[in-house]
Amino acid sequence: MLPRSLLSYLRRPLCASTINPAPSRPRYIQGSGPCLNAGIPESKTTVPPLAFVFDIDGVLLRGPNVLPATQNGLRYLRDNPFGGDIPFVLLTNGGGVSEKFRSEKLSKQLGIKIAPNQFIQSHTVLKALAHRHFDKSVLILGGQLDAAQKVAEEYGFKKAYTTADVLAWNPSVWPFYTLSHSEQRTVRQANFSQESISAIFVFHDPRNWGLDVQIICDVIQSGGIIGNPYVPPSQQLSSPIEVIFCNPDLLWQSDFPRPRLGQGAFKEAFQAVYKSLTGVIYPYIQYGKPSQATYKFAEQILTDRVEEMYGVRKLPHVYMIGDNPESDIAGANAAGWSSVLVHTGVYDPHQGPPTHQPTFEAEHVEQAIRSAINLWAEAGKGKC
Ligand code: G3P
Ligand code: MG
Repeated sequence: MLPRSLLSYLRRPLCASTINPAPSRPRYIQGSGPCLNAGIPESKTTVPPLAFVFDIDGVLLRGPNVLPATQNGLRYLRDNPFGGDIPFVLLTNGGGVSEKFRSEKLSKQLGIKIAPNQFIQSHTVLKALAHRHFDKSVLILGGQLDAAQKVAEEYGFKKAYTTADVLAWNPSVWPFYTLSHSEQRTVRQANFSQESISAIFVFHDPRNWGLDVQIICDVIQSGGIIGNPYVPPSQQLSSPIEVIFCNPDLLWQSDFPRPRLGQGAFKEAFQAVYKSLTGVIYPYIQYGKPSQATYKFAEQILTDRVEEMYGVRKLPHVYMIGDNPESDIAGANAAGWSSVLVHTGVYDPHQGPPTHQPTFEAEHVEQAIRSAINLWAEAGKGKC
């Protein structure tokens, strides 16, 4: 069960946008580096002085491919100078399937066991919010077919629908697209002239931007019941239908040579259309890196992991290893963690300095892990 402080933080009322700008100063300058609180732990049962949070796309994987340095890097977490296994969790802005499915798939790819409770996706933080909407009709956007819908149901959303369900109800809602056979097989029957949608959750990258933008606008402008007369824009804003985005990434790194548009680009497209229709930007909640809520959540999950491994609730010094300055580094800096920017993903050092300054940069994940561990090991030997 999540602690009261985090739950109250996640349940705070709707506001325009919740991204927190990060201080752009390397962490060490403030003197909280290894020198001050290092020292080699006496035994395997002593919590190591540091822990890791790994981004996935552009750090461990590129699209379906495991990056060459990944396995050696993760193995060093077991075979390190501190004796005990160094705790780590994965924190991705990806999603669309269950944490269990992804952790099992990645464990097979890496040949290293990753437990579901070590796996934080962009929407995992919503587990704490599902009870607020459990009996209300909500729309779940993004991902393949009804995979994200099933995840939402697992989290506790009892009346979770997709835009394919809406299109199946009335094909004229978006006359430019016909559901495929595989989509038709996943449809949940509902009469949306009776279902008032109370919130819209963008769980993962939408596959059909046109259909999804149309239906978000329909729900908002008709006050929840698609096809109903429009409510005045002032009312659309004064008692807004909640729109929650789980991943702000404009770009992400797949196996294509150049970064690809992400969920953040979909959000921009929706807002551009909504602004053309109403003259204003629609208020929304933003989760995912670099949001503070996601980093607070990750700290909780990492502390749970340390307790699971060492029987004590303690958060060692945290290193975030990421490829995206806007999400991984910005969020880690704002959370007071150390941050390492690798050159295997979105950030290209040939394009100039990063928009958010990491604690240090590394060619790839193995170099990042070894540098951080050796820094603390050296400090432990008083060589700082
Ligand atoms: O869709 C996922 C992408 O935006 C970034 O994923 O693992 O780099 O946070 P990740
Ligand atoms: Mg990444």
